[in-house]
Amino acid sequence: MEDCRNRITRQVHADATNFADGITKEDAYEQLLMLAEGLFTGQRNWVCNLSNTASLLWHAYKSLPSPSNAVNWAGFYVLDPASSSPQLILGPFQGKVACQTIPFGRGVCGTAAQSQATQLVADVESFPGHIACDGDSKSEIVVPIVVDRAGNGSPEVVAIIDVDCADLNGFDEVDKKHLEQLAQLLARSCDW
Ligand code: SME
Repeated sequence: MEDCRNRITRQVHADATNFADGITKEDAYEQLLMLAEGLFTGQRNWVCNLSNTASLLWHAYKSLPSPSNAVNWAGFYVLDPASSSPQLILGPFQGKVACQTIPFGRGVCGTAAQSQATQLVADVESFPGHIACDGDSKSEIVVPIVVDRAGNGSPEVVAIIDVDCADLNGFDEVDKKHLEQLAQLLARSCDW
């Protein structure tokens, strides 16, 4: 029987999500960025690329020590094309089911989308308007993916990266730096 992985070896196969034990968070993010770049080569569909990225993020966090291994949701919301007012709609993710739509300006995700700025939230209870999709989430980081689609020097938010952690203070400047690099990679690697 043909191993389905043989047919995708030109890309990255499932073993790519094996992050080595004892790896540092910096190294895990560097490996993730390298793997993502490989997966995006010859593939610009955002559903496909965000889906594989959600998997990479999930397995990277699960390979790390506390608090990263307490990540309980990792994924994306994208700009809702069916909404007349700016709104996010649920995209590819790993974790439990989540809110389907979030207006710009609401919650951590909507704040990141409206401000086009990363939101690093040590304690979600202290974030005004935080949307509790899952009561287990204690901290959160949201990074906007920004693209100048019209080519007029006015970049728009096309999606956001959202990662939740079941521990307080789950994220730091290392997460922010690398997730912002990931956002830039996704911005230039997909047709939005
Ligand atoms: N907590 C987010 C909502 C999305 S879930 O965490 C997946 C927010 O406040 O925007």
